[in-house]
Amino acid sequence: MNYPFDPFRDVASLQLAVADSFCELAEQAVKQNGVFRVSLSGGSTPRRVYEMLSERQLPWDQIHWFWGDERNVPHDHADSNFRMVHTALLSKADIPAANIHAVPVNVDAPAEAAEQYEQTLRDHFDEPFPAWDLMLLGMGDDAHTASLFPGTLALGEQNRWFVENWVPKFDGFRYTLTFPAIESARNIWLMTAGKAKQQALKQVLLGEPDSNRYPSQRIKPTRWFVDAAACGA
Ligand code: 6PG
Repeated sequence: MNYPFDPFRDVASLQLAVADSFCELAEQAVKQNGVFRVSLSGGSTPRRVYEMLSERQLPWDQIHWFWGDERNVPHDHADSNFRMVHTALLSKADIPAANIHAVPVNVDAPAEAAEQYEQTLRDHFDEPFPAWDLMLLGMGDDAHTASLFPGTLALGEQNRWFVENWVPKFDGFRYTLTFPAIESARNIWLMTAGKAKQQALKQVLLGEPDSNRYPSQRIKPTRWFVDAAACGA
């Protein structure tokens, strides 16, 4: 495939490259601006990256951790993205609690929780959209990213930064950044690994434009982190 990047040999080398690049970018941002604000992805691909970061020397006091999406479950639930990051990284490194900005999940009132988190983001970023130093994203085998799933309402949101999103295939709500709140990041890294992502990646990069069906088509990553298996190599 003539994709606009060189694939990584395997997922382990992809994850190491993300961890190394994260450290470089964080050091650079803190040196230049005194702060590094990152939006984290859920899923299995970044989990190992977070574990690697916990073993690095980073300017922990100057890094602020946000979530690009979250499941509508308590933070101690096995499906929670907060729990995943807390287990892999936040519980292991010397990170100030004030720098950890978890989605205030409210299982019974997801709209309220989304509004609260949007206010948290607006407390940290200026208008019109959040200027993240780094947006970490994955891509599902249905070409979703964050919790912007095919055919869901959140895909069309152009004003709000963070919303609750009803996802029929889960018969439940997710929380997610909207496209404009993703696209405003200075650096957008999209991580995709594994054979199961081949078709989605091909549609996203080479298919007919249809971001309702393939939401990741809307994303313009500044860097792609993709392994050979996802490229069909
Ligand atoms: C989530 C993620 C989601 C993820 C993709 C890919 O909450 O699950 O934010 O968008 O990035 O589903 O997940 P994998 O890395 O597990 O393939």
